[in-house]
Amino acid sequence: MRKIQMVDLQAQYQQIKEEINESIQEVLTNCSFINGPTVKQFQLNLENYLKVKHVIPCGNGTDALQVALMALDLKPGDEVITTTFTFIATAEVIALLQLTPVLVDVEPDTFNIDLAAIEKAITPKTKAIIPVHLFGQCADMETLMALAAKHHLYVIEDACQAIGANYHFSNGESKKAGTIGTMGCTSFFPSKNLGCYGDGGAVFTNDDALAQKLRGIVNHGMFVRYYHDIVGVNSRLDSIQAAILDIKLKHLDTYIEKRNQAAAYYNQAFAGHSNLKTPALANYSNHVFHQYTLVLQNADRKKVIDYMQEKEIPVMIYYPVPLHLQKAYTNPRYSVGDFPVSEYLAEHVISLPMHTELDEEQLLYITSHLLNAIDIAKQ
Ligand SMILES: Cc1ncc(COP(=O)(O)O)c(C=O)c1O
Repeated sequence: MRKIQMVDLQAQYQQIKEEINESIQEVLTNCSFINGPTVKQFQLNLENYLKVKHVIPCGNGTDALQVALMALDLKPGDEVITTTFTFIATAEVIALLQLTPVLVDVEPDTFNIDLAAIEKAITPKTKAIIPVHLFGQCADMETLMALAAKHHLYVIEDACQAIGANYHFSNGESKKAGTIGTMGCTSFFPSKNLGCYGDGGAVFTNDDALAQKLRGIVNHGMFVRYYHDIVGVNSRLDSIQAAILDIKLKHLDTYIEKRNQAAAYYNQAFAGHSNLKTPALANYSNHVFHQYTLVLQNADRKKVIDYMQEKEIPVMIYYPVPLHLQKAYTNPRYSVGDFPVSEYLAEHVISLPMHTELDEEQLLYITSHLLNAIDIAKQ
């Protein structure tokens, strides 16, 4: 059996090696490494795939979130509501821009932002909401957008884990994750569903004026060469990464399908098990399974992890500490117990290997050993 990886980028590369190598070679031949035609081509292809007017490529997903916030002309002290159960980048950029991150809890089933909690957290200083489509499933965007409209708030979707996911509106219409809010952000970090071989990210928007502004912000606030109208940053997707992404974009829907097949295998193996809560599927979104995350109920998680490690099966905890309990984000506003769902999840979740190259032998090995681990660790 091939060694099991949390994300098997090597096995994936072997499948598309020729296409990728050829695409990189083209960049090496034309030597247009920054802002060249390859980046433009990928941008257009991604706009087409997402059915969004503008994709603004940038250096990584964290920068995407930062430049999106910068484009909104917020003032220090303005409040931005987001979830406490996410990767740190979501709140980091809010804090970096001297805005105030206002954290709220998540829903116990989908792990996505709790909409009732958002409404309670809105104050006259609230300017924006950042929902995170955690693990690859969209937050309830229709309800969220209505709430944002009622309170005149911007919405920046953190779609770093959910590229390609479809959100279904009640009128039957569907839109891609990241194309519903004022702006959407994604990451092309190597392990992401659409990952490059270095760092990369992008902002999506249907707003022409914001797109124009974002293109300036990512390029030193420059609209005419060497004239800097606003304060910007240097955040670019380089041509080699764009060349890789342009190839991988063609495979994205197949990759999503493969992740769903692995998830279906896991779901079937764990169905009805009283110690394992499998991922909930919302009726308003499909799931692209960036992560396959279980909630362990009445079982000693450490024992489970130790057993899996003994069997050379990698497992991860996404995320062990909610943001309100992170040292850098301690704030008299928050204390232990404030967000019970996130705190419970932080102590009980476990993510299994999830990628496009898991075969049946590996899936059988993982599932049977997890069931053994639970037998040993149940309380
Ligand atoms: C939810 C979320 N937001 C933001 C980011 C930041 O993306 P990057 O690592 O490309 O900066 C990530 C990925 O790491 C993420 O998972």
